[in-house]
Amino acid sequence: MTAPETAPVLEVEGLSDECATRGGPAFAVTDVSFAVPRGRRPGLVGESGSGKTTLMRMLLGFQAPTAGAVRFGGRPAAGFSAEGRKAFRRQVQAVFQAPFEAFNPFYRIEHLPIAPLLGFGLVPSRKTALDRIAAAMAAVGLRPGMAIGT
Ligand SMILES: Nc1ncnc2c1ncn2[C@@H]1O[C@H](COP(=O)(O)OP(=O)(O)O)[C@@H](O)[C@H]1O
Ligand SMILES: [Mg+2]
Repeated sequence: MTAPETAPVLEVEGLSDECATRGGPAFAVTDVSFAVPRGRRPGLVGESGSGKTTLMRMLLGFQAPTAGAVRFGGRPAAGFSAEGRKAFRRQVQAVFQAPFEAFNPFYRIEHLPIAPLLGFGLVPSRKTALDRIAAAMAAVGLRPGMAIGT
């Protein structure tokens, strides 16, 4: 029996993405399987165009695989209820390449960090969320008083 602390948290089994091209069907990802045990931080390395982004899009649930499955906590992610999907989204997240591009200058600074705090119910109120964001900004030497408003 597998000890709970080494049991895989996230499993990918036979994940493939087959796409139609002018030259016929082609695979962006072919039959990828791996398991991530709790507390481990594996890396994924490959040359440009080898399918890393496509694999991660399928793992995060942004794109359905053409074959294979993602399991989280032993259960297939594809069969999650809305509530299960929310728990998955809270625990399986990505830091995208070029994260600075995620910041839209038309929004105030709290626009992005407040979304998970309120969306996942991690704080009791908007006021607490803004206080938390202000504290995090101050901790890295930014001046939240100049940016965070109402
Ligand atoms: N829907 C699609 N149709 C055709 N080709 C695709 C499609 N999706 C991905 N590809 C191709 O699959 C390959 C893998 O892409 P990608 O996952 O972005 O690789 P990486 O992130 O490792 O650079 C690329 O050559 C990409 O152009
Ligand atoms: Mg990529």
